[in-house]
Amino acid sequence: MVSQEKQKSLYIKTWGCQMNVYDSNRMVDILKPFGYTTTDVPDDADMVILNTCHIREKATDKVFSELGRLRDYKEAKKAKGEKMLLAVAGCVAQAEGEFIAKRAPYVDMVIGTQTYHELPEMIAQALGAYGSNRIINTDFPVEQKFDYLPEEQQDVTPSAFLSIQEGCDKFCTFCVVPYTRGSEYSRTVETILDEAKRLIDAGAKEINVLGQNVNAFHGEDKLGNTWDLGKLLFAIAELPVERIRYTTSHPRDMHDSLYAAHRDLPKLMPWLHLPIQSGSDNILKHMNRKHTADDYKRIIDRLRTDRPDIAFGSDIIVGFPGETEEDFQATMDIVKYTNYSQCYSFKYSARPGTPAANMGGLVAEHIKSERLTRLQTLIREQQASFNKKCEGITMPVLIDRESDTEGRLVGHTEYNQSVIMDGNKRLYGQIIDVAITNGTPNNLVGNIVTTEDKTLKDIKTA
Ligand code: 5AD
Ligand code: SF4
Repeated sequence: MVSQEKQKSLYIKTWGCQMNVYDSNRMVDILKPFGYTTTDVPDDADMVILNTCHIREKATDKVFSELGRLRDYKEAKKAKGEKMLLAVAGCVAQAEGEFIAKRAPYVDMVIGTQTYHELPEMIAQALGAYGSNRIINTDFPVEQKFDYLPEEQQDVTPSAFLSIQEGCDKFCTFCVVPYTRGSEYSRTVETILDEAKRLIDAGAKEINVLGQNVNAFHGEDKLGNTWDLGKLLFAIAELPVERIRYTTSHPRDMHDSLYAAHRDLPKLMPWLHLPIQSGSDNILKHMNRKHTADDYKRIIDRLRTDRPDIAFGSDIIVGFPGETEEDFQATMDIVKYTNYSQCYSFKYSARPGTPAANMGGLVAEHIKSERLTRLQTLIREQQASFNKKCEGITMPVLIDRESDTEGRLVGHTEYNQSVIMDGNKRLYGQIIDVAITNGTPNNLVGNIVTTEDKTLKDIKTA
């Protein structure tokens, strides 16, 4: 094990999804008892971890370009007689560990997605405690990392992540996740609820329940009963938390108790990220999504019936192999039908090792770009109109952070929109009413409604 005495600095750079953000936070928690504290600059850090994402193209290139820069820092530190440990973690490490080790011999550690709980041991080895110096650890160990993560969590933010499920058994033909994160694994109900309580005790107002396929959650309780996500959300809502969200979900895993949670739990936010990927049944079939556009519409309809104020987010890919103009129009149609308040869209890129990478019918790059522009224009219009409708309304906002401008705060609404307002930083971590004055496509601007304003308003309306 590494020594517990001397203070050391740790720089972590995180790419990709919220799961990676969660993992990075947990790596900080693991290393804290070993004297590592985080720093915002890598130049002189004792340890640098790149927590990488492999989901779209150029992922590996980005890692190598970052590594090139870090190598200089490492050399400079070496010249001073000091050592910078350099680690690549996350999905690129999982998928391309051997390649990274070969091409970048100055990297000390390659850490897969399921092994980072072994970091202290790996650091000890990399520092030469056991004679051997380079570590490549991309196994999928049978004992799950969650059982080995420390209970203590540092720097709990007002909106906290809680990972409950990991991995994916869906095998969408374009996606690397089933290969980089392994098969679906759900934590036990008890460990999740314990972690939720600790986060709340440490000041979390909002819990963001995370999983690669979060609504496929099937964790066991102490009695050996299997819980689905809906049941778990009901249990989390019993705790003194103010807001609950979950992400990311698959249309195939919507289930009755989850609809009930949306209907009956005011704490479950009226916003759902539910990726559709394409609106064409033919493309959905080739993507192995195992649902149709109509199935998706029925889900949207049912949620809107159960929770009339709900809004939706999504992920969409354009230019999947074989996509015709007609298929693309079907995507535009479903976007119009759902009327998203936020939506991510991507050009398809072939990922090595995935079934779609060997499919024929490649769509030319300029057609992909042109479709993406049309789609993003529509999405932007929808987002702009959603935000515009908020003007003149008072919305509850969770204050997340101070803006770079002195005296300004940033928070987010129940619909996950960013809100900028003037205010004192002592409001950090509180949910306060904000009167929205301006809704732009990307965010909202507003004024904090004080108790005084409220009383005045009540008098006026009375
Ligand atoms: N090409 C383009 N986009 C992809 N995504 C996943 N794999 C690919 C790929 N090969 C998108 C999906 C997914 C989001 C996280 O990234 O839309 O939901
Ligand atoms: Fe990837 Fe599909 Fe699994 Fe989502 S559901 S992680 S897109 S394989």
